[in-house]
Order: sequence, then C-alpha cells, then structure tokens
Amino acid sequence: MNPRPTDATERPVQKAASGGPPPLLPLPTSASTSTSAPRESAGRTRQVELRDLNAFYGSHHAVKDVNLSFAPRDVTAIIGPSGCGKSTMVRCINRMHEEIDGARAEGQVLVDGTDLYGAGVDVVAVRRAVGMVFQKPNPFPTMSIRDNVAAGLRFTGAPRGEIDERVIGALKGASLWDEVKDRLDQPGAGLSGGQQQRLCIARALAVEPEVLLMDEPCSALDPVATLKIEELIGELKERVTIVIVTHNMQQAARVADTTVFMLGGELVEVGATHKLFTTPEDERTEQYVTGKFG
Ligand SMILES: Nc1ncnc2c1ncn2[C@@H]1O[C@H](COP(=O)(O)OP(=O)(O)OP(=O)(O)O)[C@@H](O)[C@H]1O
Ligand SMILES: [Mg+2]
Repeated sequence: MNPRPTDATERPVQKAASGGPPPLLPLPTSASTSTSAPRESAGRTRQVELRDLNAFYGSHHAVKDVNLSFAPRDVTAIIGPSGCGKSTMVRCINRMHEEIDGARAEGQVLVDGTDLYGAGVDVVAVRRAVGMVFQKPNPFPTMSIRDNVAAGLRFTGAPRGEIDERVIGALKGASLWDEVKDRLDQPGAGLSGGQQQRLCIARALAVEPEVLLMDEPCSALDPVATLKIEELIGELKERVTIVIVTHNMQQAARVADTTVFMLGGELVEVGATHKLFTTPEDERTEQYVTGKFG
C-alpha cells in the first residue's frame, strides 16, 4: 500500500488530493486510467451504479429490479412514501442490508465499475468506502467527542499517529470544529441534536468515504441545524458522491441535483430535481410531489 500523505489534517475535508490517498477498494484511480477524464475533474468522487438490484426480508420483496446511477459530484435525493424501500435500497449500497437477519440482496452495486458484491471484495473495505449517516444521531454517548470521531478510524486500522489529525480534519469537514475544539474530551452525548448529527457525519468522514449515504439525516433537527447540514452537503459533494433519503421535498429541492421517486419497492422516476418537482413524467410522481398521497 502507498504511504499516506502527511497533510492528513486537511485531506479528508479540504480537497480531493490529486495523486492522494490510496483507494479503499481496488478501484481504478485517475492516474491509472487514461480514459477517465471526468474522474480527473471529479477528484475522488465515484460513479455508483445499481444494476438489477433486488432486496428481500425473508420472502418480502422490498426493493424490486432497481437500475440507477449516482453521478460523481451530484447529490441524489431518494423520495417516496414510508415503507417504499428507500432505506433498504441505500443499505444495499454499503452492504449493511445483509447484516439484518433473514435479509438478502441480489444484483450489482458498481462503484467505478467494481462490483461491491463481487468475489474477493472485503466488506469492511466497502463500508469504509461507502459511509452512512442515519436518521437519528447515534453517537456513542459515554465516549468523548474525540473518540466518537476516531471510532471508525480505530476499527479500520488507521495508523495511531494520524488519528488526532484526522479527527480534527473530519470535525472541520462536518462544520463542527469551532463549536467543539475546546471540549474534545467531553462526552458526545453533551452536544445538541444538530451537533450530534454533525458529530456522526464527522465520524463517517474520518474514514474518508468516497460515497456517503445519508438516511433522513435531518429529520430530528431544527431548521438551523438542518441548514448547516444542507450547507455541508453542498461542500462535500465536490469530494464525495452523496445519496440522501429525505421525506422533506423542500430539502430535496434545495440540496439535490437529481431526485429519485420510489413506490412499492420500485423506482418510478429519476430526473433532474427541478424537473421532477415541476413537470414529472409519471402521474404517480406528480400525485406524490403535489401531496395527493404519502
Ligand atoms: N428489518 C426488517 N425486517 C423485515 N421487513 C423490513 C425490515 N426493514 C424494513 N422492512 C420492510 O421493507 C419495506 C421497505 O422498508 P424501508 O425501511 O426500506 O422503507 P422506507 O422507504 O425507508 O420507509 P420510511 O420512509 O418509513 O423510512 C417495508 O415494507 C418494511 O416494512
Ligand atoms: Mg427509511
């Protein structure tokens, strides 16, 4: 493995280092692919493609034949009524779905062409490369702010000497540093809900994911905290491919370049966000976005 660059503090959050850190998955890098012009400009952000994705809980077919692409430097919002399979679909992207008893997925999740379900792909590496932030902030309550952010780093075996710098970089990247820099050794549970959610985002960013899945990250937050997260998404998208599940259509309209509407486990419509909300192709999308059901 290549040695890590020494500017670890800045790296996860300030910019995508050209020729920077080694990929977390055995994916082609911009240096090794001559035909990857879009990747050059996109830094380390990745193209994610779901092919014939199906997900089950026992015999319950929760995600049905989904084919979908998430473009580098795009934020994609997933919308749809409760129970339509949004969380299940995003959990398939980092292989969390298979951790649930009786659950299984079929199909492919390609990240720059590498199938995360392929033979020989390490699940731990997948979860490092594809980070996740959940609906309810879930910091380890008794752990300090510093250790909450470092938790993933220790788990993934980051060199000890780098941990502090990467914690600081991740907290800056999550726009939380200024609020916590004088209390890094106090418990994570002492933060407000919005701060806790940014702490969880910092925890996800610390391991330098290439794709970030956010499952209703603002549903427990007030408007000010929500705005901070949305601003953060706008900054992060330059470096990380972002998929956000939201029930809030105004939020999708504010943050997402592309919006996906799901219903009954199926993908109904995918389009540029503005178009999907104003002139959708499918009648069901129109009914949903105008509040006629859901
Ligand atoms: N752990 C589970 N075991 C069994 N069935 C599940 C499980 N989790 C979800 N399901 C079922 O799978 C379907 C899709 O659920 P999912 O949580 O993906 O929906 P969602 O669109 O995220 O809904 P919400 O907006 O309420 O979060 C639902 O019918 C749900 O009941
Ligand atoms: Mg859900």
